[in-house]
Amino acid sequence: MEHVTSEISDTELHGVSELLDLLHIDVETEAVDLRPGRDDALCSKNVLRKQRHWERQLAAKKSKRKEEKQRRKLSREQESGACTDHPQVTKRVMKAVARERLAEARSTGLKLCVDLSMTDCMSDKEISRLAGQLRRLYGSNKKATRPLHVYLTDLRKDSRLYKECIRMNDGFLNYMMEITEESCLDLFPPEAVVYLTPDAEEALETLDADKVYILGGLVDESIQKTLSLNRARELRVHTARLPIDEYMEKKDNVKNFHSKILAVNQVLDILLTFSETGSWTRALQKWFPLGKGYIVSSHDSPPLHAPS
Ligand SMILES: C[S@@+](CC[C@H](N)C(=O)[O-])C[C@H]1O[C@@H](n2cnc3c(N)ncnc32)[C@H](O)[C@@H]1O
Repeated sequence: MEHVTSEISDTELHGVSELLDLLHIDVETEAVDLRPGRDDALCSKNVLRKQRHWERQLAAKKSKRKEEKQRRKLSREQESGACTDHPQVTKRVMKAVARERLAEARSTGLKLCVDLSMTDCMSDKEISRLAGQLRRLYGSNKKATRPLHVYLTDLRKDSRLYKECIRMNDGFLNYMMEITEESCLDLFPPEAVVYLTPDAEEALETLDADKVYILGGLVDESIQKTLSLNRARELRVHTARLPIDEYMEKKDNVKNFHSKILAVNQVLDILLTFSETGSWTRALQKWFPLGKGYIVSSHDSPPLHAPS
């Protein structure tokens, strides 16, 4: 089971677009050099120099990803310290505990839906990435001490996503979550629904057991802005964004890149930690990806809003 939230992030997309720019320059350079009288040796030197630069950039990205992976691993190990201190707590027992918690979540857990009604406009690659994110989302929920009651709504059996989930995610049909062709509003009254979208005006303050939180089942490969906000407006439901502006600040980086858009599994990780600790600072500190260009503010945090 993969643990690390590794959607090809906006940072990487940004990087890819830079690399494409780079390639563009190469192409132009080569085109210019085809004119008679130009020095071929100079051209290949240029191409080589740019290729080396490109390779260095790729290596830097790889090592950044590795660092982030290690940070997460360390944090997981620290958390599971209790179990490694007691080797008698076997894997089987832990599995049974996880199943029991998931079963409990199905009757009393905080409700979270992933709205999969928008997958028709996604490419096959995006569908595959979304299937991977749903696997990670389930993996995180399974490991949580207070898992959420997760619904995958609008997941049609004849859809590409359904088939991809079965192909890519072992045991998908036995996941302890609700997998349904019904839409979130077939299941819940509109007044109970809070659609989470990065483009909402209001920040999420706390998690309320009487509400149902919806995530848009989207992958930002082709960066279609405000899709989930539009969907929420169409459903006429309340919207909220993660309180990133309230608890985080921009961090300088070479590319001056800053993004508040996360993958669905990353949002779930943040919600899980918030629901366990009541602290946005801790939740964002632990899960907000470093490459997004934000860090948790060091000045006084707003008061805690314990989840109900
Ligand atoms: C990859 S994002 C999709 C972004 C997409 N451009 C959109 O229209 O929302 C997938 C989903 O994660 C949730 N999400 C991601 N970042 C969020 C944020 N900062 N605040 C609230 N929800 C967020 C939203 O539910 C969003 O639909």
